[in-house]
Parts: sequence; structure tokens; C-alpha cells
Amino acid sequence: MTIAARRMSRIKASPAAVISAKAMEMARAGRDVIALSAGEPDFDTPDHVKAAAVRAIGEGKTKYPPLTGIPELREAICRKLERENGLRYTPDQVLVCNGGKQVIYNALTATLDPDQEVVIPAPFWVSYPDMVLLAGANPVVVATGPANGFRLGAAQLEEAVTAKTKWLILNNPCNPSGAVYSARDLEALAEVVRRHPHVWVLADDIYEHIIYDGEPFSTLAQVAPDLHERTLTMNGLSKAYCMTGWRIGYGAGPQELIAAMAKIQSQTTSGASSISQWAGVEALDGDQAFIQDNVAVFRERRDLGASMLNQADGLSCRTPQGAFYLYVDCRGAIGKRTPRGETVETDADFAKYLLDAEEVAVVHGEAFGLSPYFRVSYALDTDRLREACARIQRACAALSG
Ligand SMILES: Cc1ncc(COP(=O)(O)O)c(C=O)c1O
Repeated sequence: MTIAARRMSRIKASPAAVISAKAMEMARAGRDVIALSAGEPDFDTPDHVKAAAVRAIGEGKTKYPPLTGIPELREAICRKLERENGLRYTPDQVLVCNGGKQVIYNALTATLDPDQEVVIPAPFWVSYPDMVLLAGANPVVVATGPANGFRLGAAQLEEAVTAKTKWLILNNPCNPSGAVYSARDLEALAEVVRRHPHVWVLADDIYEHIIYDGEPFSTLAQVAPDLHERTLTMNGLSKAYCMTGWRIGYGAGPQELIAAMAKIQSQTTSGASSISQWAGVEALDGDQAFIQDNVAVFRERRDLGASMLNQADGLSCRTPQGAFYLYVDCRGAIGKRTPRGETVETDADFAKYLLDAEEVAVVHGEAFGLSPYFRVSYALDTDRLREACARIQRACAALSG
């Protein structure tokens, strides 16, 4: 007899969180572990944002905030969506949550009936399928690959859609592949969605600002205004604003959807911290220049990491256009033997070998639904990244057979 509910057997703990926790534990035990596993910028939250939070505390803005978010933040979000994305929403079409993660959870929980389907391109952010499963529905995973820059194609989407499809989840730029969908790519997908009026789109834009080489950012409701009524545009402050711990994310969509999501929130978390929300107003309305400074640093690290990992025996990776991850192909290491005589059979074995032999923590591709790969987060100090890549090169060189 187990305490866990039956539906719990459908899901697992987030592998990225499990690996990061293990790396932290090793570091606490005095090991010189380098974690390339966490999805968070190493940069500190900007001072003007911190100051806004301190002000909010001083002014006693410490009571329960309105369930859907303080009006000032929802208004700032509407301004942001119009200014940066050309999208028009009213504050009652916006919900502020405890991070983007809760936006997605609320949306899926509020809308999915058992046996409905959600189309998820792989590699995917680890939480999408499990949230779908927790809601009693079924993820329909569609593999992408390097040939199409890890982007879902229109023909693939057409093939994946059935009468049971409720959502398509589109993450742009993508964690873990770093793929960026152009306006043209999105238009092609929109054309398919248009033909299937029962399908909604969840646009996860959380890496919107972390985009390189002058690539413009587009989101689905912007390129296909006629699908505005079937789109949830999701975003948050964790990545671009270096505010992972503040837990502010938001969703904008049709009022009926937002109201259903708010109902879940009313019975679960009661919304996000009032102090973080006031900081969020400053983040969205205040100085944005630091974002581009940070992106320039990420870009250097991307190039450094890609160049060093492409020089490692058996590894290859593309130079992605967005987010702060490299999705490294490790098929050249599969089947080889470690110095301890173990055979590397899967990408999980390879990740375990890196951690055991060189104390470098990465997340194996299987966790993202596409093997044999592993994900490297380059959101860490540049010298540590260089050291980690050198260790990975050394680990690869030590494999035989
Ligand atoms: C693709 C993607 N979506 C959503 C999130 C959720 O972020 P948060 O809950 O910190 O806003 C993450 C975080 O890693 C992510 O990578």
C-alpha cells in the first residue's frame, strides 16, 4: 500500500531538478562539481528591480494581492505585449502566476479532459508531458531533428493532430535545443492550426529576449491574429530579468480561458507574492538595457561552448539561435567503454559517466524526449564553462572502443 495517488504513477520528478540537486549535494560534500544542468542565469537580479521590492515591503504592500495579479502588473504586462509583440490584451485577459510553470499548469489543468491530447515537439521542456499526464490527458510527442533545426514542421503537425487534440505547445526559443521559429515557420504552423478549429496553441515565450545574431522574435498570436482567440501567450521574468527566485510568470489569452485558470489559482496558490509583483512592474516598465548586455555575454559563452564541445571526440552540436543551452549529439560516444570498463549504452549513461569521472552535471537527452543527446546550460561563469568543457573533452578522450 502506497501513500501516493494512482495518477502519481503517471509522472516523475523533473530530471533537471533531480540532477541539479545531486550536483548541489556533491558540492556541499566538498567536491568540485560544475553544474551545467540548471536553467537559470547566473546574473543577479538588477538593482532597480530589487529596490522596487524593498520599497513595496517598506510601504506595507504585503497583504494578499488580488488573485489574478495586482492591476499595476497586469497593466504593465499589457503594455509590454503591445510594445514588444504588437499584441493587444486587456488586464482581465492576463493572469499573473508563481512563475511560468504555474501558468502552464493552470492552463492544462483547467482545460484538459481525460484522453485528450497535447502535441509536444521533442526535444521539449521536461515539465510539459508530465503536466499533461497529471491532468489525465496524453502527450503526443513529435520528434524534430537537426535537419530542420529542431523545429516542428507543418506536415509533422498535420500528421499529429487528431480529433482529440486540445493543445499544441510551442516553445520559442526552445529549451533545450535553442531553436528559434521565424515568423514564416509560425505562419506555416498557424495554417495547420487554422484548419483544426478545436486546437489551441500554448506559446511559451519565456526565452523571448535570449536570442542571438539579430534573429527577430515572433510569437504565434502576432503572426496569426485570427488565432488570437485560441492562443495562450505565456511569458515570465525568470530568464531575461534574472528573477528565477521571484516566481513571476504570466499568461495572456481569451477571458474565458484566463477565468478558468484563475479558478484553479483561487483554490491552490492564491497567486504570486505581492512583493515580487511590485518588482515585476519595475522589471517590465524600467530600464531594459541590461538584457542586451547579458545576451552579449551569453552569446560569447554559446560560441565558446559550441566550439569546445565540437572538438570533443564523438560529440557534435549546432550553434543555436536562442535560449542558453546547447543540445549536444553524443551518438559518437554510445557503445564505447569507460576507463572503469562500463559500456556507455544511452545518453543517461553518458551523463552519469561525466558526473562520476569529471564531476560535470548535464541533463541527458532522454529527459527531453530525444536521444542520444545531452543538454548543457551555459548560464554560468565563463571560466567555469571553459573548465567544464575541457573536462568533457577529457572524458570523451578517455573512452575506448
Ligand atoms: C521552456 C520553459 N518554460 C517555462 C519555464 C518556467 O519558468 P518559471 O516557472 O521560472 O517562470 C522554464 C524554466 O526552466 C522553461 O525552460
